[in-house]
Amino acid sequence: MSAPDPVLSARNVSIEYEVDPPVKAVRNVSLTLNRGEILGLAGESGCGKTTLAYGMNRLLKAPALMTGGEIVFHDRDGRDIDVVALDGDGLRAFRWDKISMVFQGAMNSLNPVISVRAQIFDIFDTHRPGMSKKDKQARAEELLTLVGVDPSRLTSFPHELSGGMRQRMMIAMALALDPQVMIMDEPTTALDVVVQRGIIREIMRLRERLGFAVIFITHDLPMLIEISDRIAVMLQGEIVEEGTAEEIYRTPQHEYTKKLLSSFPSLKGERGDFVRTGSQPGQEEIR
Ligand SMILES: Nc1ncnc2c1ncn2[C@@H]1O[C@H](COP(=O)(O)OP(=O)(O)O)[C@@H](O)[C@H]1O
Ligand SMILES: [Mg+2]
Repeated sequence: MSAPDPVLSARNVSIEYEVDPPVKAVRNVSLTLNRGEILGLAGESGCGKTTLAYGMNRLLKAPALMTGGEIVFHDRDGRDIDVVALDGDGLRAFRWDKISMVFQGAMNSLNPVISVRAQIFDIFDTHRPGMSKKDKQARAEELLTLVGVDPSRLTSFPHELSGGMRQRMMIAMALALDPQVMIMDEPTTALDVVVQRGIIREIMRLRERLGFAVIFITHDLPMLIEISDRIAVMLQGEIVEEGTAEEIYRTPQHEYTKKLLSSFPSLKGERGDFVRTGSQPGQEEIR
């Protein structure tokens, strides 16, 4: 195995919600994402997964406050970026460009009355102000094709699309600026299992092809075991166990990890089955 090559590292990160009484949502978390890998972040609802993800992408808003720790992005040109210190233009150039995020429930957050094309163009207008209309159109078509949607759908409005299709659009938007890291927060939780498998297969394929690293967040640990390289298990704001997917599956150490493993009876096969079984690629309907 080649030596780990970190792209994003969090060290001793603590995040609180400054409400009364304060909520210590993330407690002293250290986590490293290596270039090109899928890191699964598992844990029950309320354990702090989304808060941590927002912290790593500098998206926290009051009353959330990062009270300690450091977050460093290791750019592909070898430069280290102190994520916590970013502001103004530096922050704008960082988000979407270096790290993009597919938000929890995002497929319901697309503006229903603005065409998909306009929403994709909006990203280019903000981040690539000099880009020609022709290039924007070509790139938008390319993005839809990448996520398995016919480019003719660009003129659709989100309200005309199914949940699975909207989620593919969100992934296309997250890919727009060719980021090195994608954070996916419960990207398939609201979808039925067949659609979920189709989308996960797509994410795996894109990752192979484009080489970005993924932090994949879900409460579904068995699913993570099938798709992740490494997994971190979070409980009440802390990472209580971390290991390769194989280790977490075969020799879970923490009682909580064992509990999460048994809470989804769906896991029967070997690692990888989740994306291999079911209909063949191209056969499943995109709903
Ligand atoms: N705006 C907020 N104000 C106060 N507490 C919050 C806020 N948002 C989240 N929390 C609390 O922070 C903790 C972690 O939440 P979250 O990061 O959303 O967990 P997860 O994504 O794992 O479900 C929970 O206890 C939640 O109630
Ligand atoms: Mg969440």
